Amino acid sequence: MSDQLIGTDLQRAKALLDQDGLVAVPTETVYGLAGNGLHPKAVAKIFAAKNRPAFDPMILHTNSLDKIAPLLQRIPSKARKLAEAFWPGPMSLLFGKTDQVPDLVTAGSPKVAVRIPNHPMTLSLLESIDYPLAAPSANPFGYISPTTAAHVVDQLGDKIPYILDGGDCTVGVESTILDVTTNQVVVLRKGGVPIEAIEAVVGKVLVRDHSSSNPTAPGMLKSHYAPRIPLKVRNLKDLPISIDPKRTGILAFRESVPGIDSAHQFVLSEQGDLTEAGRRLFAFLRQLDQLPIDIIYAEWVPEQDLGRAINDKLRRAGAR
Ligand code: TXA
Ligand code: MG
Repeated sequence: MSDQLIGTDLQRAKALLDQDGLVAVPTETVYGLAGNGLHPKAVAKIFAAKNRPAFDPMILHTNSLDKIAPLLQRIPSKARKLAEAFWPGPMSLLFGKTDQVPDLVTAGSPKVAVRIPNHPMTLSLLESIDYPLAAPSANPFGYISPTTAAHVVDQLGDKIPYILDGGDCTVGVESTILDVTTNQVVVLRKGGVPIEAIEAVVGKVLVRDHSSSNPTAPGMLKSHYAPRIPLKVRNLKDLPISIDPKRTGILAFRESVPGIDSAHQFVLSEQGDLTEAGRRLFAFLRQLDQLPIDIIYAEWVPEQDLGRAINDKLRRAGAR
């Protein structure tokens, strides 16, 4: 058996997971740090590797709703409709949990988040095991989520034995999290499935905007996804005249800013395509965070479809 850190060996991944080890896995949203979601020992290793506080619950990943159903209290009809419409895909649903789901996974909550990710490699892995995978994003707690295997190596390479390389994430922002335990569907995190698409299936949803003062979904802490370099979201046509153009980074939606070092500028989508912007967002933030600059100025994207999730990430990246 090879002992390389990165690869595409599903048998090796399975062997590690079967022994309560950790494996980083690709999904269409971001890379996850996976372990056996029914074994507290494996789940505890995930918390430790990420330096994640125990109050922050994890999503269980499966390849089939039928397979995970015995771990859930019930599957409401709206949940079934959403699952049919968007799974596999960038959406997580909250269900009442049974005792078989360790309290550590849900941070003591009676509800558990579940998702079927849309990535062929991870779906094959999930098919080969009879337990769900607990998998938060594979980044140290509070930092930018990884959208390539190399991002995982950079930050957790010394803490995990194996990273499945499934290429660049095609969606690039995390799953939309929905509480479907009552008749009124509630959005807990904006993400890869736009609210417009969800409402087309189940009608009007309630968006519960989280902040650090409301830790119901601690992943929604105000200063999540933060680069180390301070980030401000601004109208880029109206930057302060006091800025040093050599020490400033730009994260623009469609056009770069004249007068600022071009090596310090990243344009999310010249065509104004929100899907492309979402796919590039975290990689660009990471690149900006490695530059010799003092500040990053980013601009809002249109507040629609995937743009809502992108703006949400920018807001949190800028909050500190
Ligand atoms: O796209 C995604 O969802 C990625 C990939 C790997 O699947 N996963 C991900 O996991 O973003 P994580 O742990 O970084 O963020 C999951 C968020 C957490 O902020 C957590 O608070 C919330 O989901 N969450 C999980 N279980 C929950 C629960 N039972 N109740 C409320 N919020 C929950
Ligand atoms: Mg995360």
